[in-house]
Amino acid sequence: MVVSRRGASAKAPRTQFEYEPESKIIVGDCIAEMEKLPAKSVDLVFADPPYNLQLKGALKRPDESEVDAVDDDWDKFASFAAYDNFTRAWLLATRRIMKPSATLWVIGSYHNIFRVGTIMQDLGFWVLNDIVWRKSNPMPNFRGRRFTNAHETMIWAARDENAKGYTFNYDALKAANEDVQARSDWLIPLCTGDERLKGKDGKKVHPTQKPEQLLARVLLSSSRPGDLIVDPFNGTGTTGAVAKRLRRNYIGIERDKTYAEAARERISAIEPLPDDTLKPFVTARDAPRVAFSELIERGMISPGARLVDSKKRHGALVRADGAIMLGDKVGSIHRIGAMAQGSEACNGWTFWHVETSKGLRLIDELRAEVRSMMIA
Ligand SMILES: C[S@@+](CC[C@H](N)C(=O)[O-])C[C@H]1O[C@@H](n2cnc3c(N)ncnc32)[C@H](O)[C@@H]1O
Repeated sequence: MVVSRRGASAKAPRTQFEYEPESKIIVGDCIAEMEKLPAKSVDLVFADPPYNLQLKGALKRPDESEVDAVDDDWDKFASFAAYDNFTRAWLLATRRIMKPSATLWVIGSYHNIFRVGTIMQDLGFWVLNDIVWRKSNPMPNFRGRRFTNAHETMIWAARDENAKGYTFNYDALKAANEDVQARSDWLIPLCTGDERLKGKDGKKVHPTQKPEQLLARVLLSSSRPGDLIVDPFNGTGTTGAVAKRLRRNYIGIERDKTYAEAARERISAIEPLPDDTLKPFVTARDAPRVAFSELIERGMISPGARLVDSKKRHGALVRADGAIMLGDKVGSIHRIGAMAQGSEACNGWTFWHVETSKGLRLIDELRAEVRSMMIA
């Protein structure tokens, strides 16, 4: 399986995102609605399906007050078999709309995630990771009969075992994690406070609104600006809100009109982040190659200009062909840099400077400007 470990391939940039990301919420059944979407058109699917919690009666705290648990009709299924049939149907519909390089995230709890995972494998999805979302503020186990249920599991899977080029922004994730590989256990609080959508009555709009921090990690790790993200179980539109902020396009499907309306309102208030904050993370390994002659071709350095080291001890003449000349010796910026210092090797980009009206500029800075034009 080939993995794209970059934020975006420098050779095939996909970063012309000076546009407003599009968000659409469809009211309807996700299976029927996904069947209407074009095949192989979606870059990433995030699914937060019904958990099938099978709650028997009201859940009470020790003081007899009632817990606001998930007892909605959308979470009820007659049997495990009915839940499995439903799961198979939406997973099949999802797989059809996924591009061959797309990935699927499914979040669930012990009530459903094992069933979902088995069906995913049976249908040919290829599990890449299971991520544990560890809740820093979980709900206690009120009856004291079990452990506190303090996590949910997310399965991240490719469309099939041989899927090529799925997005995993490995280098950016590592850089953001103090240069340590990002791990599969994420400590994130439940969605509370101002982020939690509330109705006029002050009650939660939705019982299972997910934290934006969780979705931000999902989308930042496995998608790119401009990608099309689908969430078949839109709820309050957490995925859509984060997608718009991160300049991804979004289609959410939700069968409940009230939730869909709340989600539309929420997403319309989101401002996409500035382009610069989302530009691809390009490592030295991935950066497009820029030849010194390109600075000349682009008019950033003129033939005849003088290159000097930081202390101006050495001066070399820039030739029209992109080589430089020190005394009667002609060669590359690297070879002549090494010669000037009497050393074996030299990185000419970080040795030579050019005189500008604002003082000396390292030629590596000019190269960085060219690179940013190449991947902008
Ligand atoms: C677990 S909640 C998703 C919550 C969402 N992630 C959020 O952050 O708000 C599942 C949602 O799927 C919706 N739903 C259930 N069955 C559905 C179906 N067949 N088609 C579309 N939506 C469905 C429910 O109405 C519910 O809002």
